[in-house]
Amino acid sequence: MASLKTSYMGIELKNPVIVGACSMTSNLSSIRKIEDEGAGALVFPSLFEEQIELERMKLEEELQTGSHLYAEMINIFPEMEHAGSAEHLMWVRKAKESMGIPVFASLNAINRETWADYALQLADTGVDGLELNFYATPSGFDRAGSDVEDEQIAILKEIKQKVKIPISVKLSVYYTNPLNFIRKLDEVGVNGFVLFNRFFQPDIDIEDEKNIFPFNFSSEIDNRLPLRYAGLLYGNVKADVCSSTGVILAKDVIKMLLAGSTCVQVVSSLYKHKVTHLKTIIDALNRWMDDKGYGDIDSFRGTLSRKNSSDPWRYTRAQYVKLLLHSDQFMREAKIS
Ligand SMILES: Cc1cc2nc3c(=O)[nH]c(=O)nc-3n(C[C@H](O)[C@H](O)[C@H](O)COP(=O)(O)O)c2cc1C
Repeated sequence: MASLKTSYMGIELKNPVIVGACSMTSNLSSIRKIEDEGAGALVFPSLFEEQIELERMKLEEELQTGSHLYAEMINIFPEMEHAGSAEHLMWVRKAKESMGIPVFASLNAINRETWADYALQLADTGVDGLELNFYATPSGFDRAGSDVEDEQIAILKEIKQKVKIPISVKLSVYYTNPLNFIRKLDEVGVNGFVLFNRFFQPDIDIEDEKNIFPFNFSSEIDNRLPLRYAGLLYGNVKADVCSSTGVILAKDVIKMLLAGSTCVQVVSSLYKHKVTHLKTIIDALNRWMDDKGYGDIDSFRGTLSRKNSSDPWRYTRAQYVKLLLHSDQFMREAKIS
């Protein structure tokens, strides 16, 4: 039987399948199941600074209202305040203590000044590593992309100086040249790249004529983008690449490894097929490696990356020129008569 071991950010994983941050990784009974089904590691849901701030404001508002109605409230609860990150940290600590597999924390802060504080708090829980969520939803016309990038690099630098556990960044794909930005983060010494995050996108219900925010799980077609970047980055960055989004079946895991990923994260796959699907994926990866005669992951990882390819266009082609030149063949393959 092949060895599925891999090393991610200097941490040994028994296999390359990590369960990404989601509601399934948030409670003790489901994370035990995740471990039992054979996951290599898991990411606890993010500490969202925005949520803490909103809850804090709501509590203050409620206390204000109460004190106005009942003057004695001030005497009963003279210094009542929101617990901030305490509850989240407690659950992260409990998750780490109850797991035999590596547990990563995740951080989504909003203020330039608070990123490092929260990162230190999460590192103190004893987790094996920390994932930083870097993105910027466009909300105004004034801020230049370079400004966003500079700030995120500065945040990473500060966290790398203060926090001693391995740090990964989970990136949005919306950078003008993600490769350039990734290289800059790599130079700061980040240990892993989680490529990519997936965000809610607004939609409109035309019957009720209102804005809606539907949530859709990803599907296999969505993994072409992380596949492209795994193939482009292999051998070109020091940090490990963990591919995420649209990794649904064992064949998707195998593709990512062939392109050069160190490991993958799965989320939608488990909502669609249940947590037991983890074992199916891991068993199928094992069978594929046995059938191909690979004793370990390093025997085939990155063999189909751009670095190991004689075709320089393999991961950079983006246009339909070839399809247009061979339109008959394209129509046949796409089953369009
Ligand atoms: C219910 C749910 C909760 C999630 N919570 C988080 C979170 O707390 N932090 C985070 O970085 N990503 C979160 N995600 C995003 C996933 O970790 C993952 O990046 C995304 O679903 C794409 O991977 P997939 O295609 O395997 O689903 C969440 C996703 C889902 C479905």
